[in-house]
Amino acid sequence: MPLDEIALEEFGLAPRWVRKGLTVAAPEAAAVDVAPASVVAEVVAAPAAPAARAAAPVEREMPRARVEERVPAQQETPPPVQPERVVAKPLQQPVQQTASEEPPPFTEDDFAWFDSVAEPVLPHDIEPVRAPRDDTATLDWDALAERVANCTRCRLCEKRTNTVFGVGDREADWMLIGEAPGENEDRQGEPFVGQAGKLLDNMLRSLTLSRTQNVYIANVIKCRPPGNRNPEPDEVDRCEPYLQRQVALVKPKIIVAMGRFAAQSLLKTGDSIASLRSRVHQYEGVPVIVTYHPAYLLRSLQDKSKAWSDLCLARDTWRSAGGGQ
Ligand code: URA
Repeated sequence: MPLDEIALEEFGLAPRWVRKGLTVAAPEAAAVDVAPASVVAEVVAAPAAPAARAAAPVEREMPRARVEERVPAQQETPPPVQPERVVAKPLQQPVQQTASEEPPPFTEDDFAWFDSVAEPVLPHDIEPVRAPRDDTATLDWDALAERVANCTRCRLCEKRTNTVFGVGDREADWMLIGEAPGENEDRQGEPFVGQAGKLLDNMLRSLTLSRTQNVYIANVIKCRPPGNRNPEPDEVDRCEPYLQRQVALVKPKIIVAMGRFAAQSLLKTGDSIASLRSRVHQYEGVPVIVTYHPAYLLRSLQDKSKAWSDLCLARDTWRSAGGGQ
């Protein structure tokens, strides 16, 4: 097989290229006659069309490769707004034309190669690339709850039963933040409804707090990770705008981060919970106290007293921030 054909074969273009002006009746003959000496193909990746983004926001299916009908002679850097495409450029003049039917002569702005199979890419075919929409920070409570309920930003949407938005007093001074819904929460659409939730309610009661009156409870992640695995970093990233907006709307005076995962996610650190406890941190301008996760306390009773100390530090910090006056 001649070198030029091998090159076309390599890029999967061989059967698709014929010389402009030739009949396509005998593709093999045309390919032999008109194949350029060598071809460079550039694959330019661009974001998927919005419809594809909505259906599969994480693992996007890229549009199939398409071959441009015409390529400007000097175009080295493709424009950023085009779908994935393959641009083929002859490096040298094509070999001598041997077909009986003479093609029209080249002009300076006219590359003589075109795709005889695929539809040409016309400007109206190209989906404009829009900046990812994230107006989450402007949403009110209802719009935010609806956005979360319909969220498909990450793969967790595929297996969830319900999103778990948050619960409690939307004007509370206290905001408690856990990790992600478990099985019960996924089923009921409310955070901390299992055994850990009962313990949490008891701990709150000892501070004369309650999720129905003066506490708002949310999770870092709004959908249950399958098998209760830890959420992945990209899942945290995609979900965090919702929590940030919840914090902005509640405007709490104190946040209690429950458990290692919540603490590390909020504080953007890999430090251990032991090293994060007993200090006042900040999240979105709000003081944060780190304590153990109630589910952990169910198994490690000896750490309940430490959790009580954490809540007392949270209460002191809340008071210092003007709470309880
Ligand atoms: N664990 C959490 O972190 N959050 C819940 O909502 C339930 C269990």
